[in-house]
Amino acid sequence: MGKVIAIDGPSGAGKSSVSKLIAERLGFEFLDTGALYRAAALYLRRMNMPDESPDSDISRALDGVVINFKDGRVFLNDEDVSDAIRTTEAGHYASVFSARKAVRDFLLQTQRDAAINNDIVAEGRDMTTVVFPNAWKKFFLDASEQGRAKRRYLQLKEKGMDITMDEALRDVRERDERDSKRDIAPLKKVDDAVCIDTTDLSLAEVIEKILKAIGDRR
Ligand code: DC
Repeated sequence: MGKVIAIDGPSGAGKSSVSKLIAERLGFEFLDTGALYRAAALYLRRMNMPDESPDSDISRALDGVVINFKDGRVFLNDEDVSDAIRTTEAGHYASVFSARKAVRDFLLQTQRDAAINNDIVAEGRDMTTVVFPNAWKKFFLDASEQGRAKRRYLQLKEKGMDITMDEALRDVRERDERDSKRDIAPLKKVDDAVCIDTTDLSLAEVIEKILKAIGDRR
């Protein structure tokens, strides 16, 4: 088992950009678990699976589905879905389906397997609580609702998507409410995680704080 740096936090707190850079800096692999949930939800949507379906139906539908990463791209059964999973709609359904036990069970081993032979930076909602409770280092990134909505808005605009600031705000609000209040693996801060409020920090400042906390002096 490699070393795991586990990073949790609500949407728009900056987890992905931070985790990617920390991984590069330390020579670790980057595990974007949100991408796994997004791809699984995309698959279920394409199968016209209602989100209130019994877990047994969801498990059966996901049986044999392969989601993996190659060169920073996300593949669903060999189809590159990297762009398809980034829409607000895909985010919404990822949040809805991620509350289902069948989906979480399906993705648990894939996430743990990523750390078998590699040192990884893993980011998501339950890295510090469920997937890697014994992680080498744990962080919780947070930011104000307005700050997170603005980050989401800018990210989606940059990808050429049509979105208003109000829609971005609604998106982060709804998803965080659902992701924090669900029964299984809700987003929460554990006592042994270092908490960083990224609202008024640059990316470089967040990276600096994390590197300092893990004792990287290079
Ligand atoms: O991080 P993201 O926005 O790509 O995640 C999309 C959704 O997937 C998020 O709203 C909740 C879910 N998710 C989860 O439940 N557990 C994770 N470890 C990562 C994401």
